[in-house]
Amino acid sequence: MSVNEISIRIKQLQEEKNAIILAHYYTRPEVQDVADYLGDSLGLSRMAARTDARVIVFCGVHFMAETASIISPGKKVLVPALHAGCSLAESITGEDLVAWRLAHPGGVVVCYVNTSAAVKAHADYCCTSSNATRVVESIPAGRPVLFVPDKNLGAYINKVTGREMELWDGDCCVHERLPAALLLERLEEYPGAIALVHPESSGSSDDRVLYHPRVFIASTAGMIDHARRSSCRQYIVATELETIHELNKSAPGKEFIPALRTTICGQMKKITIERVLEALEKEQFEVRVPDETRERARRPIQRMLEVK
Ligand code: 13P
Ligand code: SF4
Repeated sequence: MSVNEISIRIKQLQEEKNAIILAHYYTRPEVQDVADYLGDSLGLSRMAARTDARVIVFCGVHFMAETASIISPGKKVLVPALHAGCSLAESITGEDLVAWRLAHPGGVVVCYVNTSAAVKAHADYCCTSSNATRVVESIPAGRPVLFVPDKNLGAYINKVTGREMELWDGDCCVHERLPAALLLERLEEYPGAIALVHPESSGSSDDRVLYHPRVFIASTAGMIDHARRSSCRQYIVATELETIHELNKSAPGKEFIPALRTTICGQMKKITIERVLEALEKEQFEVRVPDETRERARRPIQRMLEVK
């Protein structure tokens, strides 16, 4: 079957089964194109909480589908690729977090959404790159904060808020490839361009990047929104490369240059259009979180959704 035929079949099955397809901006273009809703981590969580579809086909990595399942326990949440993981989420376990908390009594734990349900179950607040700064600022100043698991996002938040959170030593193997030196080199190479930088990037908290007049640091949706509104015609894209698919659609006629051609999340690419079809046909692979973990993990996620 061609991609077009597969996409038509997907749409038929969706209607028969009352299913919604949610996809992250890092998935393959043909998967993005078949989605009912395309978003970043925060947007996808909000949509999962809101939909009244019976089935959610979640085209994203495992922790994202788990989050959807926690906030929508009555829905059947399916992932097309069972083993699509995330280096950040895998850098900490629930037991690690329990031990870290014990070593820092009185600490408030903020966990990035890129964590397993077992980790969220031991956190006080959850956040995404869209609302991380606001979530941390909502915690009274003076309270010690433990941030897991992304040291780059954590360092960026510390700089922007002036807090001194303790940071877990995890990183995203994709955004880690974007250090300050590389971003500064690209800015010199393209003197008329704005650099769109994801805060998971290793260079995002370097003062030379953070305070550079031609740098815009934001979540994926924030970058797309900026490119749409700004009058600048040329952008250096310092995040996962598939984001350029939506940038081209949202801001036609503008030029998007990858900061580095290897910023590709292989885990997201495991979700192929064929696997999306198979997921709908067989209603596989269902993501379920044990009741006790779900109950505990729901509170920090709910707090995250309440922060604008
Ligand atoms: P956002 O979707 O919040 O921009 O995060 C990017 C990411 O790496 C998701 O895994
Ligand atoms: Fe995880 Fe990085 Fe892939 Fe995002 S880009 S899913 S943080 S490995």
